[in-house]
Amino acid sequence: MDSIVVRGGKPLSGQIEIAGAKNAALTLMPATLLSDEPLTLTNTPRLSDIKTMTLLLESLGAEISSLQDGKVQTMSCHGAINTTADYDIVRKMRASNLVLGPLLAREGHAIVSLPGGCAIGARPMDIHTDGLAKMGAEIDLKDGYLHAKADGGKLKGAVIDFPFASVGATENIMMAATLAKGTTVINNAAREPEIVDLATCLRKMGAQIEGDGTSSITIQGVDRLHGATHPVVTDRIELGTYMLAPVIAGGEVECLGGRMSLVASFAEKLDAAGVDVQETKAGLKVKLRGDRPHAVDVTTEPFPGFPTDLQAQMMAMLCFADGTSVLEEKIFENRFMHAPELVRMGADIEVHGGTATVTGVDRMKGAPVMATDLRASVSLILAGLRAEGETQVNRVYHLDRGYEDVAGKLGGVGADIERVPGS
Ligand code: EPU
Repeated sequence: MDSIVVRGGKPLSGQIEIAGAKNAALTLMPATLLSDEPLTLTNTPRLSDIKTMTLLLESLGAEISSLQDGKVQTMSCHGAINTTADYDIVRKMRASNLVLGPLLAREGHAIVSLPGGCAIGARPMDIHTDGLAKMGAEIDLKDGYLHAKADGGKLKGAVIDFPFASVGATENIMMAATLAKGTTVINNAAREPEIVDLATCLRKMGAQIEGDGTSSITIQGVDRLHGATHPVVTDRIELGTYMLAPVIAGGEVECLGGRMSLVASFAEKLDAAGVDVQETKAGLKVKLRGDRPHAVDVTTEPFPGFPTDLQAQMMAMLCFADGTSVLEEKIFENRFMHAPELVRMGADIEVHGGTATVTGVDRMKGAPVMATDLRASVSLILAGLRAEGETQVNRVYHLDRGYEDVAGKLGGVGADIERVPGS
């Protein structure tokens, strides 16, 4: 298995191009099931999760072609649709559950495997299924699969109050509601930029949606959706990750395509830590004001709060900060798996439940490390940019799920980093 080797201590300088958002693409792709005309996505990131979604959609009957090495994807569901999403694909990636709403809306029935838990938490689907039930779906669990059927073959609009602003449930219900009979209102909806991106694309396909980006979204069902072309929004998590690279390694980096509105709460914390973030014509330019960042306390929250998907990377920065920081993880119950690995590199971190206390140290030392999820893996690479000696990050398949060519992007701005093929 491949690994990434980083030798720390090189300040960075230059530009990094930020790709389209994984989590936007993973919800835009299933939207193709809502129409029999082609949907073309541009600015699609080249990631293994996108390949998994491609396989899943193909297994359901989509025809998918790609151009520009996968950056442009055209998907078409003009033929017969298979309504069963198989466990073998769904277990590889939780976002596979995003086919449930579209399948149910299009065909009136669907069988979708429950994805099961993952390294960061149990991640149930009750908010998705309760919402669809309100729209008239009957949903039973049999042999690990959700069997869903719309009463009378068609979903009906409903007022749905979410107990928590779940990103995936907002996406699933929003897609399902585009073809439902009548009006659906989602209260306490998620407000992430990926939701706004999905709504923008669905509107291009003929959907009637209002309120995306606020906590109440209204969808007026229509009879059919048509084809469209849509550019995937910039990946705010990849953006935040690379914004941290010059803060940790030293130097200055401009993240091309970055916008402050995508990372406002994160940039506020960077400012408090002594980091300059400047909006340029092309993106965001980042530089640490002193030698070490200051300690800052961080609590993860749904958007527009501090994103859970940047918590591990922020921890890597706080390991070198001047003072003690408290990180509270409020979205996932088990998202500190990177902490013991950072400790192996010399960090001072104590974890109690959902709270991590990080006392910054002067120096860390490279070590062989491994992580159990995507964001944890990249946090170890970030720490390796400043640690003395060599850090070897194993299990690179986690990284490949969500980061395009990490070694190329960081190497391009002066990091000493390489991908080493496994035996
Ligand atoms: N939850 C429930 N019931 C549900 C749905 C969610 O209890 O029916 C709980 C989850 O267990 C979790 C919390 O609600 O504790 C948040 O889950 P949410 O549904 O908002 O997350 P998601 O849709 O499963 C997406 C991203 C995640 C990101 C979260 C939070 C995609 C494909 N995934 O997951 O991305 O962390 O929103 O922002 O969009 C990543 O990219 O590394 C990643 C994990």
